[in-house]
Amino acid sequence: MLRAQMDSSCQALCRSLVSQNENIDISQSVLYTSLMGLLLVADKERELTLGNGQVGLYNTGNTCFLNAIVQCLSHTQGLRDYCLNKTYLQNTCSSRVPELMNEFTKVLEGLWCTDEGKRSVNPDRFYRVFKEALPYFSGYSQQDAHEFLRFLLDRLHTEINRRHPHHTAATPEPSYTRLRISEEAAAMWKRYVDKDDSIIVDLFSGQLRSSLHCSVCSHFSNTFDVFCDLSLPIPKTSDSRTGVTLGECLDLFSHEEKLSKENSPMCETCNRCTETTKSLTIQRFPKILVIHLKRFTALRYSIRKSTVPVSFPLTDLDLGPFGPSDCGAVLYDLYALCDHTGTVSMGHYTAVCQDQDGWCCYNDSCVTQISADQLQSNQAYLLFYRLKNNTASRK
Ligand SMILES: *[C@@H]1O[C@H](CO)[C@@H](O)[C@H](O)[C@H]1NC(C)=O
Ligand SMILES: *[C@@H]1O[C@H](CO)[C@@H](O)[C@H](O)[C@H]1NC(C)=O
Ligand SMILES: [Zn+2]
Repeated sequence: MLRAQMDSSCQALCRSLVSQNENIDISQSVLYTSLMGLLLVADKERELTLGNGQVGLYNTGNTCFLNAIVQCLSHTQGLRDYCLNKTYLQNTCSSRVPELMNEFTKVLEGLWCTDEGKRSVNPDRFYRVFKEALPYFSGYSQQDAHEFLRFLLDRLHTEINRRHPHHTAATPEPSYTRLRISEEAAAMWKRYVDKDDSIIVDLFSGQLRSSLHCSVCSHFSNTFDVFCDLSLPIPKTSDSRTGVTLGECLDLFSHEEKLSKENSPMCETCNRCTETTKSLTIQRFPKILVIHLKRFTALRYSIRKSTVPVSFPLTDLDLGPFGPSDCGAVLYDLYALCDHTGTVSMGHYTAVCQDQDGWCCYNDSCVTQISADQLQSNQAYLLFYRLKNNTASRK
């Protein structure tokens, strides 16, 4: 079928070229559509042939935090394939060249090339383009892998947004009064994707619901926010060697919190700020769930790092209990993580990613296979989970 399309495109192109020789005006649009047809057919025919991805990234000077994140994203299959098959070139609405996306794709091409002898890729050009696009990041002394992930995904999204930022009329804010929670949430989600829609949103974005309960008049209200990762607090523990579980971090994240008058939003009914309780639930589950463990706490003059072990499931992490009451089990499997070793000022980032052969540790240019029981540590900082059953994700 594709063959036939290709042939007919070729024939059309040849006819046009021949007709030019006969001094008949060549129709530019015929030529254009023929060429585009050829390109699209050629694109569809190109099957991705990939290496095993076990290729390192050179450290070009304090870039371990960038390298670790790039490895985690490189093992995010939907994003990797989208880049490698160049779908983004047809998707974007912007007329600007997607420079960062192009450079990111080149790094991925290096990491997944089939050349057996390839050990490492130099990501320097990509990092330079990134820093040009986000100059304020260069000055960011802490060099936090989580911040980098956010900046990178945000920037890539901007380049490949399917919506034109200036040409979409904003959907009016829905009037909440008579809507059910799920309808309210869906309306807010639609408002968001009317402006922001890309593979990054498809994969990483979810929706959080915060429910507020006024202690004076008992008024309930909800607000909905889009998230690209969940930042979880690590609960205090009496025994810092045995540590805590990821489930306990999620409990602490979602559990009801009392807000003082000063920190409460205004109650619509009382028409003033009142003491409020607030609780968080996941209204819409992302395909890729990135969990950020808040190991770093800013104190007045310094930053403290927590080295409490947080144990996490490799398979079947169930987020159902943190979702809408009727959502059932929502299962996630781990496929990558980013570790931080050392202290705040003398730290080092590495990634651990899964492929068909098992798990590998990516320590800049050094890649070593490790066993699954080596994954748990007191250094896990970012966890990358993929949704297993799609049924529970809300529309
Ligand atoms: C490219 O990859 C994306 C993500 O996996 C996929 O949805 C899309 O169908 C692919 N396109 C082509 C032309 O192979
Ligand atoms: C990463 O490599 C460095 C030396 O290249 C080594 O000192 C360090 O222990 C390694 N880290 C991990 C987590 O393997
Ligand atoms: Zn009130």
